[in-house]
Amino acid sequence: MFDVLVIGGGGREHALCYGLSKSPEVGQIWCVPGNPGIARIARCVKTASMDPEVLANFAVEKAVSLAVVGPEAPLCAGAADAIRARGIPVFGPVKASALLEGSKDFSKKFMVKHGIPTARYQTFTAAAPAREYVHGEYAAGRAVVVKADGLAAGKGVVVAETEEMALRAVDDCFSGQFGEAGSRVVIEELLIGEEASILALTDGKTIIPLVSSQDHKRLLDGDRGPNTGGMGAYSPAPVVTDSVMREVKEKVLNRFLAGIQAENMDYRGIIYAGIMVTKDGCRVLEFNVRFGDPETEAVIPRFRGSLYDVMLKTAQGRLAEATLEWSKDPSVCIVMASGGYPAGPLDKGHEITGIEEAEKAGKLVFHAGTVEKDGKIVNSGGRVLVVTAMAPEMHEAIRQAYDGVSRIHWDGEQHRTDIAARAVMKR
Ligand code: AMP
Ligand code: GLY
Repeated sequence: MFDVLVIGGGGREHALCYGLSKSPEVGQIWCVPGNPGIARIARCVKTASMDPEVLANFAVEKAVSLAVVGPEAPLCAGAADAIRARGIPVFGPVKASALLEGSKDFSKKFMVKHGIPTARYQTFTAAAPAREYVHGEYAAGRAVVVKADGLAAGKGVVVAETEEMALRAVDDCFSGQFGEAGSRVVIEELLIGEEASILALTDGKTIIPLVSSQDHKRLLDGDRGPNTGGMGAYSPAPVVTDSVMREVKEKVLNRFLAGIQAENMDYRGIIYAGIMVTKDGCRVLEFNVRFGDPETEAVIPRFRGSLYDVMLKTAQGRLAEATLEWSKDPSVCIVMASGGYPAGPLDKGHEITGIEEAEKAGKLVFHAGTVEKDGKIVNSGGRVLVVTAMAPEMHEAIRQAYDGVSRIHWDGEQHRTDIAARAVMKR
C-alpha cells in the first residue's frame, strides 16, 4: 500500500481524494490543509505555511509515494519543484511551466509561437496606450476582453460589452487593484461561441484527453449575473462533438505537447484548455495548469480504474503505459454557494444540514468551503458544497443532482437551477 499527499482544500481536492481513495494501491491519504469533507477519507493537516519547502518537508516526513498538487497558487510558487527535488514523484508542473497559467502574456506568446489557435491580442504595461488600443477597437466595431496578466483568483477578466467597461477594466488593473498581477494587461478580441473545458494528462511525452466537460461561470440562471469560480458543471459536453475533439487534439493538444518539448518545459500533470467553439473553429481562451473546479467534481466520478496508477505514471513520465476508462453515464454537479457570493461580504458561519441525507440518497457531496465548529459543519467560503450525480441519461443525472441539493440547507444558500439544461436541449 502506498501513501499519497494531496495539496489543497477545495471541492476539486475532495474529488481527487475520493478518486485516490478508491484506488486499490492507496493506503493513507494526507491532505494539506484539506477540509471537513476530505477529513472523512484522508488525514487533514494544516502545515505552518503553504510554502514549497514546508510542503516538501511534510511529504518527506510522511514518506509518501506520490504528491498531487491541486491549486495553481502552490504550483506557481514552486511546490512541484521543491517536492520533486526530494525524490518524490509529483503530479503537477514545475514553477517555470506553471507560468502558462500564472502569466496570461506568457501563455498567449506560447500559443502564438506554437500555432495554437487563440484570440488576437496585445499586451500593455501602461494605461495610456491600452486605453488608446481599446478606443481603436470599439471605433472599428470590435469588442474586447481585458485580462490582468497574473493570478487574480478568477477576478482579473472583464468581458467588456462596451468601451466604457473596457476602459474601466484597464484603469482598475493599472490602479493596483490586483497588485503585481495587474501591472501588465492583456487585451484580446471578444470571441462569440460556446465554451467547453478540455482537460488532458501529459508527462511531456504523451498527451491524453479526459472526457469533456462544461462549466457554468455566471452566478444566475440563463448565464446572467457576475462571473464566479463556477456554479456547476456536467460531463460530457455535447458541444464537444467528435469533430470538435479531433480539432482540439490536432490543433491544441498535439501542438501544446510539441510546444513544451520545443521549449524544454518539464510538464507532468494536467493541462486544462478553456476552449471557445466559434463558427470559425476552436480557440483557446486560457490554459490552466491544474484540474478545473468544479469540472473535476463532474469528471472524476466518471473515471474507472486506479487514479493513483494514472497519476503516478504521469508523474514518472510513463503515461504511455496508462489506459483511461470512463463510465458512459453522464454526470452533473451543482455548486451550492454562500449568500453574498461572489462579490461579498459572504454570509458565513451557518449550520449546514442534510449532507448525510443526500449521501444516503446516493449523491456525492464534495466540500469546498466548510469548517467544523462545535461538532457542526458550517459554511466558511464562497462555494460551499458541490453535489454530484450520475445516471444513464443526462436529464436523469440532472434530476438526481437537484434531488441531492434539495435535501441540503443553510441560511442564505444559493445555487443555479439550470445546470446542464443546455446539454439536454442539444440532444
Ligand atoms: P479566462 O480566465 O481567461 O478563462 O477568462 C474567464 C472567462 O472569461 C472565460 O471562461 C470566458 O467565459 C470569458 N472569456 C475569456 N476570454 C474571452 C474571449 N476572448 N472572448 C469571450 N469571452 C472570454
Ligand atoms: N472552472 C474554471 C476553472 O477551474 O478555472
